[in-house]
Amino acid sequence: MTTTSSPAPIGIISALRDELSAVLLRMPPESRQRIANRSFRQCHWHGQQVVAVLSRIGKVAAATTATAMIERYGVRAIVFTGVAGGLGEGVQVGDLVVARSFLQHDLNASPLFARHEVPLYGLTRFRTDTPLSDTLAAAARQALSEPVGLLGAQAMQDFGLHTPQVHEGLILSGDQFINTAQDSVRLVAELPDALAVEMEGAAVAQVCHDYGVPFAAMRTISDRADDNAHVDFPRFTEQVASHYSAAVLDTLLAQLPA
Ligand code: ADE
Repeated sequence: MTTTSSPAPIGIISALRDELSAVLLRMPPESRQRIANRSFRQCHWHGQQVVAVLSRIGKVAAATTATAMIERYGVRAIVFTGVAGGLGEGVQVGDLVVARSFLQHDLNASPLFARHEVPLYGLTRFRTDTPLSDTLAAAARQALSEPVGLLGAQAMQDFGLHTPQVHEGLILSGDQFINTAQDSVRLVAELPDALAVEMEGAAVAQVCHDYGVPFAAMRTISDRADDNAHVDFPRFTEQVASHYSAAVLDTLLAQLPA
């Protein structure tokens, strides 16, 4: 826990190194600490104290990471950034989704509890923090209005990218990489307002709910969660998504009260 009078840090979490590579370049660590087999890096960015960590993949790994971050650093908010598969109509590769709520699509304790309900919480969806998500969405629109400046024309062309649309709404999480059209069609039939699917966000949202820590999340769409979902995934993540994350976080951190 931070015991000085300086404001508590902002926490940044991504699952994979490729998702955070361009972000880490902007935050040379002032200190590092190994906790629960994860490397937590602290630095200042736009005068903000920031702590960043890689969670690894899946809901349990994400929950462990968020819990350690809150307990050890007393973060005042957590922002998750990474990639996701697009589900919603018009949610294209290269777009961004800012989460307004999260749901675990693989959670089913029926008939004891309703489908997707988190047992004993009385909730199927965990909402993200509204003011922080508003600021994040505005930062995303501002930072990504001219993506050529971030990626270069060649990368835009290689990946067939356009100016990213910023969508806001429901993101699904589950311990499954969705890579068949059959699975993504089933998810959309079950949850028609779902915009994207990934493997960590709902777990971090639940931990933040438990601790009362404001949470926001943004995901760059790397695939359409169909039979082509694996194609160029690591290259896209490192060469596109991590640069979008760095630009959006840079804009966000400049706007948050220090
Ligand atoms: N993250 C990025 N793409 C994904 C997909 N198709 N399924 C789950 N998580 C993802």
